[in-house]
Amino acid sequence: MGHSVALNFADGKTFFISVNNDELLLNAAIRQGITLPLDCREGVCGTCQGQCETGIYEQEYVDEDALSERDLAERKMLACQTRVKSDAAFYFDHHSDICNAGESLKIATTVTKVELVSETTAILHVDASQHPQQLQYLPGQYARLHIPGTDEWRSYSFANRPNAENQLQFLIRLLPDGVMSNYLRDRCDVGQTIMMEAPLGSFYLREVERPLVFVAGGTGLSAFLGMLDTIAEQDNAPAIHLYYGVNTEADLCEQQRLQAYAERIPQFSYHPIVGRGTDTWTGKTGFIQQHLDKDQLAENAFDMYLCGPPPMIEAVKTWLDDQALSNYRIYSEKFLQSNTAKV
Ligand code: FES
Repeated sequence: MGHSVALNFADGKTFFISVNNDELLLNAAIRQGITLPLDCREGVCGTCQGQCETGIYEQEYVDEDALSERDLAERKMLACQTRVKSDAAFYFDHHSDICNAGESLKIATTVTKVELVSETTAILHVDASQHPQQLQYLPGQYARLHIPGTDEWRSYSFANRPNAENQLQFLIRLLPDGVMSNYLRDRCDVGQTIMMEAPLGSFYLREVERPLVFVAGGTGLSAFLGMLDTIAEQDNAPAIHLYYGVNTEADLCEQQRLQAYAERIPQFSYHPIVGRGTDTWTGKTGFIQQHLDKDQLAENAFDMYLCGPPPMIEAVKTWLDDQALSNYRIYSEKFLQSNTAKV
């Protein structure tokens, strides 16, 4: 039986390969045209070093000069000595071009729906079933979409998990005068073709092994929808707290979908926060960091994922520093409001 394995690189590109049960990861990569750096092939030189981010794997001989006990505890691994036992994701801290990995996948998709989900947000639904296989990406990653009739591309996180039908969703903020926003408002029709490049990005769900704190700003929510779709399919999820901040109540979207996760994920809690409340808003207001609970966070080691505008991410990181908490790992993705760039 083969396993689907994501190879992630420092330039944000991801390539999926199939690895047979009895096959070494390095051999499987080379067989599929991805020439990971290597030298000894015997677990000694450390040249093929990477890190396992999700999945089950075993290593054969690993020389202590190549990886220390601490390295092994951090799930660092040697591709020439690694056999995978489940679907998995590995990170290599170098660019993909030194592996002759080629370009990311570029495929044609077809618009199936543009759904207005708040006064300022739409979900673009596209059909990628022209692609002969299931499109693979890690929950939290993003795609670049070409805007028809222009030379422009924009980046958006997938808002759902990979699926056999290749039906994809992207949460998109509607700006008064954005290139994608204008296209969606003025020219987009069902059946139009949108070219897509994917998968991209190093912001994706790692091994889910301890409580998770998700912090979303605006359409940064999109990445978490994909992650929650994935976690909802798994057993024994740990506690997950989602903090979702927007400017005004009118910006909130996908409320029913978020509430529904609580029925599928037993320890899921959801905290919408509105920057500027109105008479009709009785929930939390202000900045997200004002509503994080230091005592609760101090109880257990946790993983925090942040996706949204740079000021929000910096404010939460500063808050964490100020609390002198040291029991967390943090993963973040900043994006500019125009969604023109992931930074
Ligand atoms: S190639 Fe030398 S340790 Fe893998």
